[in-house]
Amino acid sequence: MKQKLTVGLQERSYDIHVGAELLGQAELLLAHVPRKRVAIVTNTTVAPLYLERLVNTLRSVGISSTAVILPDGESYKTSATLNLIYDALLENRCERSTPLIALGGGVIGDMTGFAAATYLRGVPFIQIPTTLLSQVDSSVGGKTGINHPLGKNMVGAFYQPQLVLADISTLNTLPDRELSAGLAEVIKYGLIRDLPFLVWLEQNMQALLAREPAALQYAIVRSCSNKAEVVGVDERESGERALLNLGHTFGHAIESGMGYGVWLHGEAVAAGTVMAADLSCRLGWISASDVARVRELFKRAKLPVTAPDLGGERYLDLMGMDKKVESGRLRFVLLKQLGDAVITADVPLHILHETLEACVHE
Ligand code: NAD
Ligand code: GLY
Repeated sequence: MKQKLTVGLQERSYDIHVGAELLGQAELLLAHVPRKRVAIVTNTTVAPLYLERLVNTLRSVGISSTAVILPDGESYKTSATLNLIYDALLENRCERSTPLIALGGGVIGDMTGFAAATYLRGVPFIQIPTTLLSQVDSSVGGKTGINHPLGKNMVGAFYQPQLVLADISTLNTLPDRELSAGLAEVIKYGLIRDLPFLVWLEQNMQALLAREPAALQYAIVRSCSNKAEVVGVDERESGERALLNLGHTFGHAIESGMGYGVWLHGEAVAAGTVMAADLSCRLGWISASDVARVRELFKRAKLPVTAPDLGGERYLDLMGMDKKVESGRLRFVLLKQLGDAVITADVPLHILHETLEACVHE
């Protein structure tokens, strides 16, 4: 069954379709390609799996495509790879009316979105996410960009897609480790704003790991619906949207501290969320048993719950690059209770050090 949600952003509103075998449904794309030409950006892993199917679907309704196939990996989410996209678009004379389609996970989605925001000062953009993480999070909401050696996602733009097609059939080829990484962002929605969903996840984790289509579809739709609500009221992260970064201040430090790609984004978010839960507990907000419950759910999703020992000072240094830093002060998304998050700069340094010390041990 196919389900449709809408991200409500006035003239920039768009639909998210979630369902099986959407790559074969040309009618979903047709209205967004009036000039019958697209450029598809993908990578060396996803291209052999899904590029031909998408190209054939487009061809069946008279749409021609140019494919740009990039190297695969977070370590390629760079300005050098972005230039490869611009090179291909220019060499193939892609025009302002030529939509860019991102076919792949969050790395492809973020880079293609930034290319779409900037090529010829902006061309239409369509997301076809093929990882769980990108279907529940990165393809929705218009955050696009690339990494910088000094910090993750440090260069980018808010640029909304015109359409998101989350084809759950593509998840059949996803490696187990990547499936788990996506579950980290799914659990996030339960923790920050949807306690009933958190309880559902506790009850259905096995079904998700077994890739039962009904469970996956439910989790993706519920996640996207949470994200669409948040983005609909705070597109540019001046308030509530920052809560979507639960675990990300610690997580981004882990990712860049370990070297991009060593820890998957979702893995770093999982360990980072346990750190945020620990810190929330030390501030007297959630109980030790709440922290244990959070740890247990990530463990059941086969995600790491112990952070790498980068050293307290190194963590502080890396976290100082966070986009939420304001007037030089770190700001953390923390849990007031399970299902209710807040953002605060009010964290005494000695308590932060306690968390950094405690969370690198089992
Ligand atoms: P990814 O894009 O690196 O994809 C993970 C791996 O799976 C890659 O090797 C990819 O080629 C492969 N893959 C993709 N689809 C596949 C399929 N169907 N079958 C088999 N293999 C497949 O990683 P990700 O977890 O999708 O995304 C992580 C990125 O998303 C990070 O760069 C993160 O910063 C970004 N992100 C962005 C936002 C946002 O709002 N823009 C939100 C969360 C994360
Ligand atoms: N992934 C966080 C956000 O989209 O705001």
